[in-house]
Amino acid sequence: MRESTPVKASRRARRLLPLGLLVVAAASGACARNAPQDTLSPEGPIARQLDNLFNPVVAVAAVFFFLVQGLVLFAAIRFRRRSEDEAPRQIHGNVKLEIAWTAIPALILAVVGIATVVTIWDLNKIDKSAEVLNVTVTGHQWWWEYEYPDLGVVTANELYIPTGTRVELKLKSDDVIHSFWPPKLAGKVDVIPGRTNTMAIEANNPGEFEGQCAEFCGISHSRMRLRVIAQAPENFEAWVQDQKRKQPAPAPGTAGDVAEGAALFQSRGCAGCHTVAGYTQGEVGPNLTHLFDRETFAGSIFELNSINLRRWLRDPQEEKPGNKMVLPVPLTEDEITKLIAYLETLK
Ligand code: CUA
Repeated sequence: MRESTPVKASRRARRLLPLGLLVVAAASGACARNAPQDTLSPEGPIARQLDNLFNPVVAVAAVFFFLVQGLVLFAAIRFRRRSEDEAPRQIHGNVKLEIAWTAIPALILAVVGIATVVTIWDLNKIDKSAEVLNVTVTGHQWWWEYEYPDLGVVTANELYIPTGTRVELKLKSDDVIHSFWPPKLAGKVDVIPGRTNTMAIEANNPGEFEGQCAEFCGISHSRMRLRVIAQAPENFEAWVQDQKRKQPAPAPGTAGDVAEGAALFQSRGCAGCHTVAGYTQGEVGPNLTHLFDRETFAGSIFELNSINLRRWLRDPQEEKPGNKMVLPVPLTEDEITKLIAYLETLK
């Protein structure tokens, strides 16, 4: 007797429907065009190298997936039991077949394995030549610090690089494990406290490439994004010269919101955590020397403008739970206005 009645079958189908819809939604989401973090549209030679490994492996896997699933379906239908007392033909295996389906996959896996290991070795090579740009990337809960040791530049969240140049990143962490991941330019590499990992990125053309921390690192992990901004070499050089400029405090005797904001920056404790080269020296939060050259702030999650900055200064813990910016006494609206007036001069 068959257990399943038409009623039970339709109930089962109805229960499976939401699951099916979920699968379709997830699959179509993966098909988005122009997705900013699309790992399948490399924008530089290093990401291209990964893509060149990934594509043939997927192609081979797809062929075997459909071949095997097709054979399973074929066998299930063609050789299904047609009556209660029917038994399958009893056999004791087929040596030739078994050798074939052991040897062929082993051979394919060996080829995939060799190609993978060669690519990994190649990607891990550290280029020490003078043509590369060196950047030390430090992961913090929850923002990225970029130091250009040969150029004397320190910035945050937005990593400027020249096009057509290999950029060697030294990855360090200030607290917990993070993972640096700019998908269109390279794979992801973990950023581990107490050790220095390396990775290289390179962009073919000018553009902005989004990325994010790819390792759970605390309550605001999802708010730890990053951007790589690739510029033509001459524009990058101009950016470097601009970044080297210090920002001395407004001259004594200067009045107005900017001067008062600069004073508040000291008296309300901002200076204890933030460096403004030429004015303050703080090691906890992002370097703000050229804050208003950036497009985003707070781990690249907010567009940098006075409205968002005001919301942030009112209650940083509300905007980004758990971050290290704690205001023992909240700032008044008037203080915020003056601080923003000062911060806007940091270009
Ligand atoms: Cu840093 Cu997740």
